[in-house]
Amino acid sequence: MKIRKNIITIAIDSPAAAGAGTQAQLIAKKYNLQYLDTGKIYRYIGYLKIKNKKNFNYYLIKKKISKLKLKELKKKYLVSDEVAVSASKIAKDKNIRELVKNFQYQCAYNPPKIFSGSVLDGRDITSVIMKKAMLKFYITANVETRAKRRYLEFKSLNKKISYKEVLKSIRNRDYLDKNRKYSPLKKTKDSILINTSKLSKKACFEKIKAIIDNKLKTNGNL
Ligand code: CDP
Repeated sequence: MKIRKNIITIAIDSPAAAGAGTQAQLIAKKYNLQYLDTGKIYRYIGYLKIKNKKNFNYYLIKKKISKLKLKELKKKYLVSDEVAVSASKIAKDKNIRELVKNFQYQCAYNPPKIFSGSVLDGRDITSVIMKKAMLKFYITANVETRAKRRYLEFKSLNKKISYKEVLKSIRNRDYLDKNRKYSPLKKTKDSILINTSKLSKKACFEKIKAIIDNKLKTNGNL
């Protein structure tokens, strides 16, 4: 794989619904970076499993991933609790994680020339996919705050699910993601902790922006 030199690389990990995606999008816009929400790849495979009960296998996944376009990952059908739960189940499979590595490496280290770099978020970005990122963040918030945010998001999309169900589902996913054998979610030592429980989107971004600007200054990029 080609690795572009002197690009900005930012890795983010977070438990479910902590606001990492929102911050990653703001970062991408501000610094002209390609953004990849890696959770959407696992959601895409989770969805494949729901839809192809009989022929869901590594061959099918490999074939689908080889044709996968970023545009597909923005589709609304991936935004549901059922798909998230299915994603979390298939995400513990070592072979499936291997099948989606290259797609992520491409986005991380060889983004199109129109971008100044990349920002990826997920569960194993700081620990596995972008071990050598310029900057790493671990974005979190308490579980009730996360469940409330996700519940309101579902409500705005007219999805019929209660706050209690969302809270239970997020707790369950947190447990699966943190305790699996391969690529579990954890904060690496070199990741900067950002707790968004009491921060607005804007306040959170200001904090992150100050850290990135400082890093770019010391690197000589600014
Ligand atoms: O949006 P939300 O935070 O709810 O989850 P997501 O980022 O869309 O990820 C869905 C599921 O995919 C997670 O619960 C993980 O099990 C899995 N995932 C993973 O294993 N590794 C990643 N890099 C990203 C997501």
